[in-house]
Amino acid sequence: MAQNWTPTSWRQKPISQVPDFPDASVLAATEAQLATYPPLVFAGEARNLKKALANVSEGRGFLLQGGDCAESFAEHGADTIRDFFRAFLQMAVVLTFGAQQPVVKVGRIAGQFAKPRSSNIERQGDIELASYRGDIINGIDFTPESRIPNPERQIMAYRQSAATLNLLRAFAMGGYANLDNVHQWMLGFVKDSPQAERYRKLADRISETMDFMKAIGITPETNPSLRETDFFTSHEALLLGYEQALTRVDSTSGDWYATSGHMIWIGDRTRQPDHAHVEYCRGIKNPIGLKCGPSMTADGLIELIDILNPANEAGRLTLICRFGHDKVAEHLPRLIRAVQREGKKVVWSCDPMHGNTITLNSYKTRPFERILSEVESFFQIHRAEGTHPGGIHIEMTGNDVTECTGGARALSGADLGDRYHTHCDPRLNADQALELAFLLAERMKGGRDEKRMLVNGWA
Ligand code: PEP
Ligand code: CO
Repeated sequence: MAQNWTPTSWRQKPISQVPDFPDASVLAATEAQLATYPPLVFAGEARNLKKALANVSEGRGFLLQGGDCAESFAEHGADTIRDFFRAFLQMAVVLTFGAQQPVVKVGRIAGQFAKPRSSNIERQGDIELASYRGDIINGIDFTPESRIPNPERQIMAYRQSAATLNLLRAFAMGGYANLDNVHQWMLGFVKDSPQAERYRKLADRISETMDFMKAIGITPETNPSLRETDFFTSHEALLLGYEQALTRVDSTSGDWYATSGHMIWIGDRTRQPDHAHVEYCRGIKNPIGLKCGPSMTADGLIELIDILNPANEAGRLTLICRFGHDKVAEHLPRLIRAVQREGKKVVWSCDPMHGNTITLNSYKTRPFERILSEVESFFQIHRAEGTHPGGIHIEMTGNDVTECTGGARALSGADLGDRYHTHCDPRLNADQALELAFLLAERMKGGRDEKRMLVNGWA
């Protein structure tokens, strides 16, 4: 076990991004209540995810991580979850088929509620209120009452996470993810998009392969891997009182696990090595993500890796790089070189969202071409450094929203107001997410052909 660590040791450390709860006793009572609730995920599942990520860190496989910037209470419903899952499965199948590599599927879902903010205050006209910090903390309505942090919301978030996870497990294991359904994952509004034809062709090839396999006796009935998929959950471990309440000892290993989700990550604003968020994460055994923005130094990264993964265990740590399309070339190579020099085992993942946010017509948005550009650079840099571009981390939804500009339908600044629904950052809609998946598959296929040529001595 990590030295001098307990589920409460973070409370002795400096901490940022904490809400101002008006009544400490209500908060304590809520946390005590949460601590009696069942775990949302099991240690064995987190270990399975870690094994899958260990393979990715060794160059075998690709991590697809995505979902809402912030889940909301108002939009909690079966259709939203189903449509997200469909869009996500489509991306996964495009990547699996394109790259011929296993895709590790991790949603930003069933717990992604708490948001770090760059300012404590939001101003609208002459009025200033406390910032919205995610539905697990306060309300999005721009009124003084709604912005007061309310601990009861943690109970709501827990219950919503449990219900969401229940449906996701049913989708993943109960037949919905069966490869025989590959044509049916297409969402209505994507059907007339430029991606639709590409997806249909790919789905036809998969169906043909399935028919061939059935002819030789390999069927979804006899092979669970054709009718089920592993789907994991993740969120930013920001609200540490909530995380602590769901931190449990695994009876089989005696180790501590966060049971609020399979994987949790540390945000770019809360990754100070001697602060509370790093302290909490170092003691639990789940796979951990660490956001790396432009201010991350090479030495700072190695220090954090030593704290979070002292045994250099493969699959434990995923570095989620979010520099911005115009900064990735400046920052990523020095971090890769430091990690290589020190022989650290990590998964390199690209978050092309958080460094590419701009304001257009008063909307926070992200131009699709900048997202693609950061992804392209991420792949090129890894190829040049001889390391594995192991994953992607995106904000996306299965809904037909207009939050990021560009993409094949060329959403413009003027379109943003049509269906701008996010509770925090702008997300890719299903169409844009699928377009990104096709681009990724091409890049990964390129890498594969290169590797094959090297093996065969063609290059
Ligand atoms: C996020 O992933 O929603 C987020 C806030 O990211 P970052 O910590 O990288 O800014
Ligand atoms: Co975000």
